[in-house]
Amino acid sequence: MSASKRCAPHHSPDAAPALNPTAKAIPSSCVQAIKDLLGPQAWLESGQDRAPFEVDFRSIHHGQTPLVVLPGSTEQVARLVRYCAEQQIGIVPQGGNTSYCGGATPRPGNTEIVMSLRRMSRIRSLDALNDSMTADAGCVLETLQEAAASAGRLLPMSLGSEGSCTLGGVISTNAGGTAVLRYGVMRELVLGLEVVLPDGRVLDQLRALRKDNTGYDVKQLFIGAEGTLGIVTAACVKLFPRPAGTVTAMIALASPAAALALLAELKDRLGTAVTTFEIMPRVAVDLVCRHIKGTRDPFGAAHPWYVLAEISLPQADSDLAGRFESALADAIAGGRTIDAVSATSDAQREALWRLREAIPEAQRHEGAGLKHDISVEPQRLPKFIEEGGALLARIIPDARLVAYGHLGDGNLHFNLTVGGAGDALPAASGQVQRAVHDLVAAYGGSISAEHGIGQSKVAELQRYEDPVALALMHSIKRVIDPRGIMNPGKVLDPGQAR
Ligand code: MLT
Ligand code: ZN
Repeated sequence: MSASKRCAPHHSPDAAPALNPTAKAIPSSCVQAIKDLLGPQAWLESGQDRAPFEVDFRSIHHGQTPLVVLPGSTEQVARLVRYCAEQQIGIVPQGGNTSYCGGATPRPGNTEIVMSLRRMSRIRSLDALNDSMTADAGCVLETLQEAAASAGRLLPMSLGSEGSCTLGGVISTNAGGTAVLRYGVMRELVLGLEVVLPDGRVLDQLRALRKDNTGYDVKQLFIGAEGTLGIVTAACVKLFPRPAGTVTAMIALASPAAALALLAELKDRLGTAVTTFEIMPRVAVDLVCRHIKGTRDPFGAAHPWYVLAEISLPQADSDLAGRFESALADAIAGGRTIDAVSATSDAQREALWRLREAIPEAQRHEGAGLKHDISVEPQRLPKFIEEGGALLARIIPDARLVAYGHLGDGNLHFNLTVGGAGDALPAASGQVQRAVHDLVAAYGGSISAEHGIGQSKVAELQRYEDPVALALMHSIKRVIDPRGIMNPGKVLDPGQAR
């Protein structure tokens, strides 16, 4: 960019670096300079084009940005970030915009630009021998799953929003999904990263190495950082052999404790083939069958709890399906499980999955609700559900508890449905959240197991995180992003930095 195109500094360059850039709207001269820097086709400016980027997926957080930038290369991202660092302009990276906590939504006031990497969607390489794939951060997860499948491999990260979420997004949020039990969270699937740092330097750790003990593993800092330390522009991820087949079953149970006992039994008999173990209460199945077209309860009678379990068959063990069936039959015969149905076709498998995956959508249709994304050690979950349920019933007697999720990972969406369509959240919702999170803390659990902190849980992190860990987080932020331009106001409260 020529010197003549520079705008007046958005902030005085002499001023001490601000961890939270002051809330001044970005001047139009800076907006113009950014557009010039990127060239045509690489930004969106009209109100209509910006609108979808200014609101989160749940329509809870509404922000404003004067410009959405769409860089086409790592080099362009770096140039843009260098300019923003110079001018102390905040940058909000946004992937598929499916955050549950406003992590990718700008704040009000036109103080930040939104950066989408959707034009960076190239698969750079796929190495079937090393079971690895390197791709741009803007690639949609489903596209990457398909690419792995065409090479006879499996990219195991799988979640409801896989048709729209991006590689950069799932890495920046350290996504979980439905196969964590077998393959781990996103952090465990990343081999290498390329990141544009807040001063415009490029951290190039895009290697497909499975062993590398050369000092601190700095790339880990950017996984789950929600874009507050830099912009992930590409990654190398692990692939796995494609399972020879999967068997999916819906299992009816008396209680979460019975579900946990069944999980232990299945792990004993089938080992790591147990890939998915998702729990749902009766109320969740009712909501789905009521609101989601084409769904139906696969059992003849109503049961208190259900588990969607899936095992994947390694090539060598073609009888695993038979062993799964007989494990379930033994559990039913022994009275430890009420009933079970297995999918015998892809259509049936999809129908069972739909019952699980459509729960958030069904909850939205049901009216106002409150979400908690908690984790405790799995063996403590049954007691947690009991105590938490009693607590909620005391605070909002009319609320229905819709506690479902990833039982095998100890992660529950401890959600509440409080009314009919159009109803507002009751005034007691703050009290409910405090009670649930206090209980999580008493159980030694996490107040955000997989959805992150974003902007909605900043105060909660401040309240519940170990003070030493929190102080370290602030120090890391200060060192890597001294001007505080990366996703300002997310994860950490700059006002609380010590
Ligand atoms: C899920 O497991 O369905 C998602 O994490 C969404 C939710 O919290 O409802
Ligand atoms: Zn979940």
